[in-house]
Amino acid sequence: MELVLPDLTMVFDDVGSGQPILFIHGFPLNREMWRPQLESLSAHARVILPDLRGHGDSPAPPGPYTMDMLADDCHALLQTLGIKERVVVCGLSMGGYVTLAYYRRYPQSVAGLVLTATRAAADSAEGKVSRDRAAEQVREDGPQAIIAAMLPRMLSPHTYSQNPGLVTEVERIMAKTSQEGMIAALMGMKERPDATDLLSQINVPTLIIHGADDQIISIGEAEVMHRAIKNAQLVVLPHAGHLPNLEQRQLFNKALLEFIAKLADRSQAGDGQLR
Ligand code: MLT
Repeated sequence: MELVLPDLTMVFDDVGSGQPILFIHGFPLNREMWRPQLESLSAHARVILPDLRGHGDSPAPPGPYTMDMLADDCHALLQTLGIKERVVVCGLSMGGYVTLAYYRRYPQSVAGLVLTATRAAADSAEGKVSRDRAAEQVREDGPQAIIAAMLPRMLSPHTYSQNPGLVTEVERIMAKTSQEGMIAALMGMKERPDATDLLSQINVPTLIIHGADDQIISIGEAEVMHRAIKNAQLVVLPHAGHLPNLEQRQLFNKALLEFIAKLADRSQAGDGQLR
């Protein structure tokens, strides 16, 4: 499906009914990375999967794509779909940065947060230099430069040795990101503000999921969020790297389904507590 607004065109899937869950993909990926979640969760919930601007099938207008802008795009999508109830927002990595921006901007529309393979901190000075270097490489050599640099670090050693088909699939998904989209997202991530101050203000149930072998965002970042967010739950998945939803799809889906079930109990009990 396609959302067409005067300043935004966004391709998305909207499948199932019940509790809406907005899945926000990472960089340089697209909504296809959530296929195992679409297949499993859409029997229990309404699964909404956008391709962020510049990624997948959505066009790439000029950047930079700030995390606030990407959060606003997602909000515009939910508004246009007429979703009145509060949503669960599940973001992975860059999608997690967007999730935190979404919560900062629209806290009243959020029922729960799922923060996967992500962090609250801004880029370090060194990280910002790497973003510039990466953008330069994409300008000179095309998207393949980033794919070649990231693919060997995206997954756990276990996945590389036991599931080469998944490595090929991730490479295929990454290859759908355009040159303009990659540069604009890199520049947006570079300028994202630190969200650490937000963590103690989060007052919705929060599930943090991280791969034990994540080489892109360390497990320490998940632990920081776990300590700072009230009553947050941390699930660390073994033999998973930066894409735990693909590498450990059953365990990931189980954690998510349990989280959704607890949210439903909580809203029935009306007592604001996760059991
Ligand atoms: C992602 O997976 O979305 C990116 O690796 C995040 C980042 O580069 O900070």
